[in-house]
Amino acid sequence: MEEKLRALSAAAKKSLENGANPEELKVKYLGKKGELTAVLADMGKLPPDQRKAVGALVNSVKAELEALLVEAAKNAEDAKLEAELKGPKLDVTLPGRSIRPGRRHPVAQTLEDIVAAFGKLGFEVAQGPEIELDWYNFEALNVPADHPARDMQDTFYVGGNVLLRTHTSPVQVRLMQKQPPPIRHVMPGRVYRKDSDLTHTPMFHQVEGLYVEKGTVSFAELKGTLDAFAKAFFGSSVKTRFRPSFFPFTEPSAEVDVSCTMCGGAGCRVCKQTGWLEVLGSGMVHPNVFTHAGYDAGTVTGFAFGMGVERLAMLRFGVGDLRSFFENDYRFLEQF
Ligand code: PHE
Repeated sequence: MEEKLRALSAAAKKSLENGANPEELKVKYLGKKGELTAVLADMGKLPPDQRKAVGALVNSVKAELEALLVEAAKNAEDAKLEAELKGPKLDVTLPGRSIRPGRRHPVAQTLEDIVAAFGKLGFEVAQGPEIELDWYNFEALNVPADHPARDMQDTFYVGGNVLLRTHTSPVQVRLMQKQPPPIRHVMPGRVYRKDSDLTHTPMFHQVEGLYVEKGTVSFAELKGTLDAFAKAFFGSSVKTRFRPSFFPFTEPSAEVDVSCTMCGGAGCRVCKQTGWLEVLGSGMVHPNVFTHAGYDAGTVTGFAFGMGVERLAMLRFGVGDLRSFFENDYRFLEQF
């Protein structure tokens, strides 16, 4: 039995030296069906006077084997690490994914800049609903049912006499109903029209303006105010031009042009060789609008104007297709 144990121990050591897997050796010798375990089980067959000596030997061989296996396992681990360190290096320099900082949308920037420019002229801000009554959107603004002017703006009807406002002008009426003159307000917001092409989207933004006083507000004040705005927004060298026009809610009415921001007035593709760009509609408030709003049309006068924010943003940033503002393409948006 002693012989057998020593042979077993020697064989195990030899296997280890030859690079056998320590895990496999552990099973082979010390496992439940292992060779050393089998010897232990045979101990009972020994004559009692031999058991003690053989038992001690079995235990020392077992302890020695266990220690050797632990060491071998550790050596194998070290060798693996060493090989990894010597081998090709893992490239950890790939840049991480950064969080892109947000920024204000070009249309929002433009809208805020318009409001700020009028703010310097003393205008406050008012707002009204986007889902509006027919009466505020048309009737009160001197556009009766069946009036051809309704065809100028293709309307989304929600049902009955409820619609999506086609312009910000109804806010004029709501504001005057709420407070007496004087009024000096701008009214920014979304508006809706059944329209979609290079320069039209079904939703866009306008900024309305209204200036009303008891007594006489002159057309010169309208011109001076809008000229000051144009210079504040486009730059002090910009010129303005007022062309006679028609809106049911203003009389007289004027379309306001600014000298082309691309060519300075010489004529180019953007201004279609005219040197001028149309930027807003304006006029003296029609007496019928005052009456509908509950003002005394005999004692108050004022002027109103309305402009498209996307159009101003296109001119300011040189954007050719209005729809790019609403496509949410980061490559487009991050340029502003
Ligand atoms: N509401 C007009 C439009 O949408 C613009 C306008 C506003 C014109 C106020 C005159 C006065 O076209």
